[in-house]
Amino acid sequence: MTVEQHESTGAEVEDLSPSSREVAAEALESLRGPSPQLPCKLLYDDVGARLFEQICEQPEYYPTRTETAILRVRGAEIAARIGPHALVVEFGSGASTKTRHLLDALTEPAGYVPIDIAREQLAETARALDEDYPGLRVRPVCADYTKPITLPKLVDEVENTVVFFPGSTIGNFEQRQVVGFLRRVARLVGPGGGLLIGVDLKKDRHVLEAAYDDAAGVSRAFIKNVLARLNRECGAGFDLDAWRYRARWCEERSGIVMELICERPQRVTIAGETLEFAPGAVIHCEDSHKYSRESFAALAAEAGFSVDSVWTDDDELFSVQYLTADG
Ligand code: AVI
Repeated sequence: MTVEQHESTGAEVEDLSPSSREVAAEALESLRGPSPQLPCKLLYDDVGARLFEQICEQPEYYPTRTETAILRVRGAEIAARIGPHALVVEFGSGASTKTRHLLDALTEPAGYVPIDIAREQLAETARALDEDYPGLRVRPVCADYTKPITLPKLVDEVENTVVFFPGSTIGNFEQRQVVGFLRRVARLVGPGGGLLIGVDLKKDRHVLEAAYDDAAGVSRAFIKNVLARLNRECGAGFDLDAWRYRARWCEERSGIVMELICERPQRVTIAGETLEFAPGAVIHCEDSHKYSRESFAALAAEAGFSVDSVWTDDDELFSVQYLTADG
């Protein structure tokens, strides 16, 4: 992440998304080790992004509706903490649905920079926001927000730069990466700048396991799409029916672990290299870590953030937290 800025006009999409060759190289690297895995960001091509939108509508998947309700009900309080003329930079903006609650509540936001890897959806969303918020400067950037990003130059009258990172996507980071990521966010927003972040809270394992393996099978389709993507983009040749999806709570990791288990021998080719999987082989696809208020505050402090405010629902399922970067 860098704070370098360049001129930009209109809501055209800045395309920094990875090429199929980069996807193949990254997949190969992570699949050929002793513990095969795939980086969870590969889940979010255009098909994956749309499946994720469907997960958010499943009755078992509580995070989206709970976080949305917190943003709606507590919008005025959140806006008061952020202040007027804020530049909002959203990481992994998707359909920017929750952002609308934030933008509606904020006083004269200076601009909105949605950053996402799913290009088509980003372009559609930016067009819709441009129409619905006529005075707002919207500058979409198609990029992997975990890598250095050049922000488009917007306006000079920015009173506060705030990264909006909803959805508890922080829970999908490897725990050893969280502090480094938060430190980069602190640098991006500068001293006194903010991070408005959704953080999912620890709870009963059955509630969690159901949320990540819904009865309609959307979570399963979402995770399996990563293999379908490697077939589409790299001609890998995975037989999708030969893989079973499993979502399980892991106490040591304090999270849900999402995996694909091989049920029939598989031979696939990625970037010219052949990989073989025997029945019982596991591909780790994603973790979704859950936090207590205290465990998240400790990570934030290590990264140079102070917890300013925490809003939760009545059942304490989910939290929205406003952190400010230390001076
Ligand atoms: C994006 N992220 C916060 C989701 C989660 O809840 O960890 C990803 C997800 N994977 C399967 N279901 C949802």
